[in-house]
Amino acid sequence: MKEAVLKKFEEIYGTADGVKVYFAPGRVNMIGEHTDYNGGHVFPCALTIGTYAAVKKRADRKLRFFSMNFESLGVIESSLDDLTPSEAAEWTNYPKGVMWAFAGRGMEMDCGLDIVINGNIPNGSGLSSSASLEVLTGFCLKDQYGFDVTNVDLAKIGQYSENNFNGMNCGIMDQFASAMGKKDHAIFLDTADLSYQYAPLVLDGAKIIVTNSNVKHSLVNSEYNVRRSECEKALEELQTVVKIAGLGDLTEEEFEANKSAIKDEVRVKRAKHAVYENQRTIRAVEALKENNLKLFGELMNASHVSLRDDYQVSCDEIDVLVEEAWKVDGVIGSRITGGGFGGCTVSIVKDEAVESFKEKVGAAYEARVGKKADFYVVEIGDGPRCL
Ligand code: GLA
Repeated sequence: MKEAVLKKFEEIYGTADGVKVYFAPGRVNMIGEHTDYNGGHVFPCALTIGTYAAVKKRADRKLRFFSMNFESLGVIESSLDDLTPSEAAEWTNYPKGVMWAFAGRGMEMDCGLDIVINGNIPNGSGLSSSASLEVLTGFCLKDQYGFDVTNVDLAKIGQYSENNFNGMNCGIMDQFASAMGKKDHAIFLDTADLSYQYAPLVLDGAKIIVTNSNVKHSLVNSEYNVRRSECEKALEELQTVVKIAGLGDLTEEEFEANKSAIKDEVRVKRAKHAVYENQRTIRAVEALKENNLKLFGELMNASHVSLRDDYQVSCDEIDVLVEEAWKVDGVIGSRITGGGFGGCTVSIVKDEAVESFKEKVGAAYEARVGKKADFYVVEIGDGPRCL
């Protein structure tokens, strides 16, 4: 990937002299879905796949972007004097949003950049290609201009730019997982205060498999923002009867005792998911520490049911993948991962069942949905770096 992105840089911009190459990973979330904007816990890990950038400073204030994933768009030009979102800017709205967010924090770039991007996260798969591009941009700005930011700052800046420049009200999980990734570890993050612990995730006798449904429904961003506001409204209603800062502050019992304050059935279901999913995540990490993979898997399955029925962010294709996974001997747990409405599932599968998992789930998916699914045995990697 490094060689490919360098070669392309030379081809597009005429030289590879003085060009630096950077990488930031995508992520998969093991459990704790739609909890990160509710002050709850998440448990994601960085992947070894992600986004690469070849970068060189320019003498003027121009910005030139080229993506090997969107070759037909050609070079997209902009300038440091035009850090505003636009449709014409296409995918460059992500790096431009990060540059804009740096500038807003007093970190002004004093010259432009030539950039070539190349990612190996399957497009629209829910494995955080956009967060990896944001963290990658932030990491590159830090290195090129000497800005004084930590990796946690990179996560916050990435989220801020996605919320305020790109109009997607995401939580912090994806950017945090990309910026703070650690080989062979998942990150147990409390989004209420950003405290975190690394938990080893090399499973004894089992593998983590990501299955790509190869579908992405267009409502993902709009429905995501709707879920978020439903939770905010439910929180306000609950705050009239209990003193809490977020839905993540409630146990299941406290929620059941106070849920009548929520005046709408749909919002009750949304809030229930946020509360129960947070508690499941805490329990799952304890189970993992105790080497109780069986319980971890059961909690993953319960997470899926809750996302499907209460939070309603699954879709038929994903439900087929999960149902078929549950049928296979040797599957410890399986659920949708990421924002929803398509994308990927994550499953824990015993070593000896990996091949039959791929065969059986793949064949059933093709028969029932008419599409091919892709399977990846996941490797957990480190955060952003200069290569
Ligand atoms: C998307 C968002 C995250 C998180 C997940 C759901 O990936 O970017 O912040 O909310 O959905 O868990």
